Amino acid sequence: MASVRQLSAGFAVITITLMLVQISMFLRSQQRNGVGQHLEDQKTELVYRMNFTALKIIPSHENSTRRTSGRLKEEQMQKRYLTIGIPTIWRPRTYYLWYTIDSLLNATSKSQISQICVVIFLADFNTTWKEITSKDIERRYEALVNNNTIQIITAPYRFYPPLDKLKHTFNDSASRIKWRSKQNIDYAYLWLYSKNISKYYIQIEDDIKTSPTYFDAIKQFISVQKIPWVCLEFCQHGFIGKLFHSHDLEKLAKYIMLFYDEQPIDYLLRHFNSIYLQDFKIERKPNVFNHVGLYSSLLEKITYVNPKVLDTRKSLKGHNPKAELFTTLASLPKFDLKAAYSVFNGYFWSYSSPVANDTIHIVFHRPQSITNVIIKTGSKEHPNDKLENAQLDACISCRLVGKNRIICYDKYHLGNFRNGSVVASDVCRKYNIKLFGCLRITVTKSQTSWLIIKEIAVFVR
Ligand SMILES: *[C@@H]1O[C@H](CO)[C@@H](O)[C@H](O)[C@H]1NC(C)=O
Ligand SMILES: *[C@@H]1O[C@H](CO)[C@@H](O)[C@H](O)[C@H]1NC(C)=O
Ligand SMILES: *[C@@H]1O[C@H](CO)[C@@H](O)[C@H](O)[C@H]1NC(C)=O
Ligand SMILES: *[C@@H]1O[C@H](CO)[C@@H](O)[C@H](O)[C@H]1NC(C)=O
Ligand SMILES: *[C@@H]1O[C@H](CO)[C@@H](O)[C@H](O)[C@H]1NC(C)=O
Ligand SMILES: *[C@@H]1O[C@H](CO)[C@@H](O)[C@H](O)[C@H]1NC(C)=O
Ligand SMILES: *[C@@H]1O[C@H](CO)[C@@H](O)[C@H](O)[C@H]1NC(C)=O
Ligand SMILES: *[C@@H]1O[C@H](CO)[C@@H](O)[C@H](O)[C@H]1NC(C)=O
Ligand SMILES: *[C@@H]1O[C@H](CO)[C@@H](O)[C@H](O)[C@H]1NC(C)=O
Repeated sequence: MASVRQLSAGFAVITITLMLVQISMFLRSQQRNGVGQHLEDQKTELVYRMNFTALKIIPSHENSTRRTSGRLKEEQMQKRYLTIGIPTIWRPRTYYLWYTIDSLLNATSKSQISQICVVIFLADFNTTWKEITSKDIERRYEALVNNNTIQIITAPYRFYPPLDKLKHTFNDSASRIKWRSKQNIDYAYLWLYSKNISKYYIQIEDDIKTSPTYFDAIKQFISVQKIPWVCLEFCQHGFIGKLFHSHDLEKLAKYIMLFYDEQPIDYLLRHFNSIYLQDFKIERKPNVFNHVGLYSSLLEKITYVNPKVLDTRKSLKGHNPKAELFTTLASLPKFDLKAAYSVFNGYFWSYSSPVANDTIHIVFHRPQSITNVIIKTGSKEHPNDKLENAQLDACISCRLVGKNRIICYDKYHLGNFRNGSVVASDVCRKYNIKLFGCLRITVTKSQTSWLIIKEIAVFVR
């Protein structure tokens, strides 16, 4: 892993902050019994938190044999305009890092590229993955890695404070607390590394589409600010497109490390901004960064997906008589089957890939005289999340025999999905059946993408 630069270790830097913290810890501990022991415990914890060895870090180029020292000095002298930080971790599913980097580089012109620096932080503890990914980045963007426009960094495991036995706050689950606490430390590390590379620093995530005008938009937006600011926002979601003065990064990092297990990063940032009297968001609209994938590295994070940013409008306006809905597929919160069957906005979104024999049943409360059925899958934002191989049947009656297990009687094959959709017309007349009790979709072949059911429209007489 020669070119993944591990940040060099130094000694703890004792700062005024540390003193202040010690004082406040002391005061706090005085209020309790067993002051002595408590103080000892707090001290250990404090040292963990205040071990700012990384404050000494500079991009360590020592192991890079490609550059001559003369050239390196010259490079260090030239400060760039914008550092773009991208933390990334191993993801079980679709990996958008390449898309994110390509999209960013495609949006950057030849004259702009020398003004930016992209710092990719491989923030996973999985060393195999880090090695593979860093090699991949070097291979794909060789020229840019060679001249330091793309820098790849990793953090030593010892940089992290304990991530177990964390405080329970916000009624978050243990895994979520761990994840968000680690994320806080990840970001602090990235900021410490990036604090003196460029004039400004902006952070994005690893699943981002960049607008072709992002660079000019950022420059322009900075130039029109009339009052002092700490943070400008170029995307409304999560921790994407937040821009800082590089000279604030060290403070921000220290602050986050102090409170890493108290609150998620977005909340901590709000407090940080308000310390600097920026009690409001300064957001550039339209945003210049957008999510490509909403699949988060942590499934739980998905609960934070905002359906408002997706096109969930219905266009077919089916009658959709009252029905019970069943499926063997798990769905994302807020994206259940009801959302697809309802005549109101919303759709179904599975969080796993459909496999052969997965089913979706629509069991009518009362048998229906069906005329047409139209089902559309995939969406504008996620066109690949469509049903590739599946069939639609109508059944005269059916019986629930277990959780999501339904036996259908007297099935009629209405059609197969083509390009993600199925249309069945004139159903009852065609099969000469008066009433159907249920509709059933059966996946006939496993697929790799997830499934969005944009709309289920059932028309009845
Ligand atoms: C850098 O090189 C030194 C000496 O050659 C070695 O001890 C160290 O482990 C290397 N660091 C990395 C990150 O490869
Ligand atoms: C601080 O961090 C350095 C390197 O990251 C480590 O060697 C040292 O033991 C740490 N100090 C304490 C007191 O934990
Ligand atoms: C930041 O980098 C510049 C050169 O780009 C250097 O002159 C300066 O000393 C550095 N500042 C710190 C605090 O490291
Ligand atoms: C970047 O540009 C290349 C070449 O024009 C194109 O093939 C690719 O799809 C673009 N990628 C993104 C993510 O915009
Ligand atoms: C780095 O290399 C790229 C591609 O060769 C080039 O466009 C860019 O201007 C170089 N940047 C610097 C700072 O030399
Ligand atoms: C570590 O990364 C490798 C390569 O991506 C992957 O195959 C492996 O499953 C990962 N291990 C764990 C424990 O996640
Ligand atoms: C805390 O979370 C649990 C489980 O997710 C939930 O049942 C409970 O209502 C939540 N409590 C509060 C106060 O939100
Ligand atoms: C699907 O069901 C059919 C018929 O019950 C069975 O033959 C087949 O093995 C099943 N396929 C899978 C992948 O479970
Ligand atoms: C498949 O559907 C998409 C969107 O629904 C459409 O843009 C595309 O042209 C269709 N492809 C074919 C081959 O019909």
